[in-house]
Amino acid sequence: MPEPIVEIAHSEEFSASHRLHDPALSDEENRALYGLCNNPNGHGHNYELEVFVRGPVPASGMVMNLTDLMRLMREELLPRLDHKHLNHDVPFLEGIIPTAENIALAIWKELEEPIASFGEARLSRIRLRESRGNWVEVQAGPSTPTA
Ligand code: NI
Repeated sequence: MPEPIVEIAHSEEFSASHRLHDPALSDEENRALYGLCNNPNGHGHNYELEVFVRGPVPASGMVMNLTDLMRLMREELLPRLDHKHLNHDVPFLEGIIPTAENIALAIWKELEEPIASFGEARLSRIRLRESRGNWVEVQAGPSTPTA
């Protein structure tokens, strides 16, 4: 029997605005591709960010202290995203078209090392909900070392 894998998760919300627009395309092509999300002055979302961490269950009984994960998200990450315009205000999103996929990938890069610094647990999944019905997930790939 394969060993069960244990994941813990913490979720936080943030509000941000964005505009989906590819400068390599014409205005008409952008409107056709991104529709309402190409609105010139942007639009907002209440995002829900869920961060999953995977690892062995040590003597403490905790894959990672959820308080540490919560603090990392609340104190280090969210102040850089909450009530920001994702096209203009966030250095780690610079030059990126802020689709949910791209935002989640960029958040992955921001959180991967800080999470690993706490011990053996590793970032395993990020789920970013842009609305109740729409979300994206980024998962550790086969070459990503997970505990
Ligand atoms: Ni949008």
